[in-house]
Amino acid sequence: MRESGNPFDLTGRVAVITGGAGLLGEQHARAIAAAGGIPVLVDIHQQRASEKAEELSREYGVAAIGCAADITQQEQLEALRDEIVARFGRLDILINNAANNPKMEARSDVNFSRLENFPLTQWEADISVGLTGAFLCSKVFGSYMASHGGGVIVNIASDLALIAPDQRIYRQAGVPEQMQPVKPVTYSVVKTALVGLTRYLATYWADDKVRVNAISPGGVFNGQPEDFVARLTNLIPLGRMATTNEYQGAIVFLCSDASSYMTGTNLVVDGGRSCW
Ligand SMILES: NC(=O)c1ccc[n+]([C@@H]2O[C@H](COP(=O)([O-])OP(=O)(O)OC[C@H]3O[C@@H](n4cnc5c(N)ncnc54)[C@H](O)[C@@H]3O)[C@@H](O)[C@H]2O)c1
Repeated sequence: MRESGNPFDLTGRVAVITGGAGLLGEQHARAIAAAGGIPVLVDIHQQRASEKAEELSREYGVAAIGCAADITQQEQLEALRDEIVARFGRLDILINNAANNPKMEARSDVNFSRLENFPLTQWEADISVGLTGAFLCSKVFGSYMASHGGGVIVNIASDLALIAPDQRIYRQAGVPEQMQPVKPVTYSVVKTALVGLTRYLATYWADDKVRVNAISPGGVFNGQPEDFVARLTNLIPLGRMATTNEYQGAIVFLCSDASSYMTGTNLVVDGGRSCW
């Protein structure tokens, strides 16, 4: 428990957030910063990551930084770990958030999102970022935490780690059957595998005081077409998509001592979708 007595306090704790320049990565970083932690926004887009880190530093008065790294490249992650440790002298939290979410629109000849057409190169690219990236980050940053007194890993899965995509919600009017867009197979595979990685790491590093949990968020409203939103919200007991900031509570909870007796679990924050 922290000296402040507030179990949600993250004062001084350094948190690596992969995909930190993206829609939710920034929100995770905000949650960490608001609790007093130091977010390290890691992304292939350095400029965006740096700009967001500067914004957070100003807003929350913490020493947030943005760093460029391709999480599929172990050497880049090792260099980043050394840079973080040299700069802050510690590393406490890893949020494995980066993933591909390919928007594969119908083309005039075939729709590549469909399983029959799904290119091996896309399969490999999606697995590489969403799963291999999480493995490599856990290997590099998690191993550091395990050998330096402990820490926390949070893997960002999805409601689609629990249920199959309902492909009916992606349908487009007037598009022939074999061209109808679908949620790509890789999304389900990567997210389900992340829950497995969570359980593996949780037990592997339990003695080293690295707690590992997952969050399974539901869909976030981000200007999607009205008919898509209507079909999706019809599947959600709370009757709406999430707002971008609605995972912040779960992030602070799992990253802080408030969840000190939790490891190996998957916290589902999906408006109730997966219980229907
Ligand atoms: N947005 C949603 O509705 C939603 C719902 C459930 C789960 N999720 C999950 O939340 C996470 C974040 O989603 P998002 O909507 O913010 O996505 P996003 O596409 O906005 O952000 C992903 C970020 O990852 C970065 N990235 C991609 N490849 C990388 C690599 N090799 N190395 C480093 N960075 C890389 C991208 O540059 C991007 O900034 C994902 O894991 C996603 O599956 C999102």
